[in-house]
Amino acid sequence: MATTQVVEDWSLEREAYTGVLRYYELAKKQEWQVRDLPWGEVPPIPETTKGTPQKRARRLDVWRSVVTQQLQADELACEMSSQLLNIAPDPEAKLYYSTMVQDESRHTEAWLKLIDEAGGTAERDPYLDELAHMTLEADTLEEKVFQMQVFYERLIISRFRLIARASRGTVLEDLCNRLTTDDGIHHGAGMAYEKVLLRNADKKTKTALVDAANRLLPTFVEHALWRPKERAFIGETMRSRDIAKLKEDIEIGVRLAQSLGLDVSDVQLPFP
Ligand SMILES: [Fe+2]
Ligand SMILES: [Fe+2]
Repeated sequence: MATTQVVEDWSLEREAYTGVLRYYELAKKQEWQVRDLPWGEVPPIPETTKGTPQKRARRLDVWRSVVTQQLQADELACEMSSQLLNIAPDPEAKLYYSTMVQDESRHTEAWLKLIDEAGGTAERDPYLDELAHMTLEADTLEEKVFQMQVFYERLIISRFRLIARASRGTVLEDLCNRLTTDDGIHHGAGMAYEKVLLRNADKKTKTALVDAANRLLPTFVEHALWRPKERAFIGETMRSRDIAKLKEDIEIGVRLAQSLGLDVSDVQLPFP
């Protein structure tokens, strides 16, 4: 009787992972190569040939800065996804993370090639490094999956859409469209896995997850409102828009947490 019980529990348990496996299949089907991008056919970033030399240089700096931020984000995504591949105990999740590590590496390769063609890197966002560090150092797998896949990878999708819209007819636009799809899969897989993880988690783990998210929010605000010197002039004029977007992003995070059955009544929204 006890044996039957264990076997039944095991198969029930594995059934819960079909969502994760579906994303594994999808990720393999969607895989692309850096050489598939239209290198040499269209400009790497929007042309900066109009206006005074000063204006052109300033526009070029803005695009270099945009590409640098995304390169930095994908470099950190490589570290976070390889950590998830290493520590996830479930074979289904390991299969899926093997594709995510490849995706993030390919994204980094593409950004490296693009930043080279755009004239080299600009300033790094120190708060993004700090956020990634917090996720890498997080205590539990549940926290890591929540921060990386449920929250960051959901938010990055709207960034890619914005950049693509502003860079029509360039390699940058093509790359952003591909990353919209890839990060859609990363987010979906994370939601599917987090649901399974939280179903088996005790109250202490869930409370710790919300506490960790609370501790992360002030750094997230700094990151969202940070502007490198190349884009400082835009930062000032668009600050109110940035704050509106930031509120929207945090509200999305709270809704996602709620949809995973987490108690978000203790979340303190750090709006300036
Ligand atoms: Fe990525
Ligand atoms: Fe990703």
